[in-house]
Amino acid sequence: MVVKNSKDLENLMRIGQICGLTLQHMLAHVEPGITTRQLDAIGAEFLKKHSARSAPITAYKFPGTTCISVNDEVAHGIPGDKMIRAGDVVNIDVSAVLEGYWGDTGATMLVPPVKPEYQRMCDFTTQALWAGIRAAKANVPLYNIGKAVEEVAKRGRYNIIRNLGGHGVGRGIHEEPTVFNYYTRQAKQPLTEGLVITIEPFLSVGKGRIYTARDGWTLKTVDRKVAAQYEHTVVIAGDTAIPVTKVS
Ligand code: CO
Ligand code: CO
Repeated sequence: MVVKNSKDLENLMRIGQICGLTLQHMLAHVEPGITTRQLDAIGAEFLKKHSARSAPITAYKFPGTTCISVNDEVAHGIPGDKMIRAGDVVNIDVSAVLEGYWGDTGATMLVPPVKPEYQRMCDFTTQALWAGIRAAKANVPLYNIGKAVEEVAKRGRYNIIRNLGGHGVGRGIHEEPTVFNYYTRQAKQPLTEGLVITIEPFLSVGKGRIYTARDGWTLKTVDRKVAAQYEHTVVIAGDTAIPVTKVS
């Protein structure tokens, strides 16, 4: 969507903050012994308390309120009986809708004991996200975001999962345009004032190729290596992009 007035911005901020706080709340409960279903229930209760509804359920009838992806799962992991264990790489993606406005955020966390190799991957992916956000401004080509993300990935020698990326958001969970995490001429259109998109780099310590698991939802790495994703919903506002899902 394109933000047209202060009501649009306020409503996006509201759902953005709810998504961000839900994510934070869930991450705080990640520990060995908890199942992904229990974690999801914690998120569901939090969303409900704020009158927001799960985007994956509302838009896609996804079998979970949030997506929880562990280790070689990259995205769209279904909450279930899987128990979090020491050393796991856990991604939580929270997207939700309130009064017709949709927000989307995600993060990867490492359960101790943390492998330095995985910490580095998470640090670079966070850097890639913020490089992408800094590159997002009105009247520059959309591919500036991908270029910035790619530069950080290259510097860290990580592979980008090229068939996953950001997207327009706001009046639905997945809108135009696709926000590639790499430079492509295909994305030469200018970012417009008020445009709402997600920026969500996916970097892997492996090759970065993925496939859909037999459950029909979960995306996993072909080489079983781990990946990291960090995501914010942002609004293009002049020379900056406002990360509405960021909580302080
Ligand atoms: Co997301
Ligand atoms: Co997204």
